[in-house]
Amino acid sequence: MPEKLIGSLNGLEEGGKGLRFDVQSKAGEVIPAFVVHFDYQYFAYLNRCGHIAVQLDYMPGEFFSDDGQTLICATHGAEYAPDTGACLGGPCYGVGLDPISIEARDGQLFLISEEYDVVVNDD
Ligand code: FES
Repeated sequence: MPEKLIGSLNGLEEGGKGLRFDVQSKAGEVIPAFVVHFDYQYFAYLNRCGHIAVQLDYMPGEFFSDDGQTLICATHGAEYAPDTGACLGGPCYGVGLDPISIEARDGQLFLISEEYDVVVNDD
């Protein structure tokens, strides 16, 4: 499967700010996405709440709840498991986040996908 550079792992702290980036589908749709560091691993999802298709972070990159154990949507408080994207509570009503495959290697993060290309590194 083709791999595409998302960005550096620098600054992606465990339970800290996430890395935002955009993906583009084969149909040309540009969709915000993000990576978080949790439980010594990296997980990426489309930045789209299961309740309403809005971005989760209230401030760019702020995805974690205060205790660092869940990802939380700033709009109505839906909570998701950082390692699976599963809906844990709130108005996501069982609809989880859409995961995207990534790989961390040599200090860099790569998207592993035939479905999407990386468009932009936000910061
Ligand atoms: S839009 Fe995310 S909880 Fe409602």
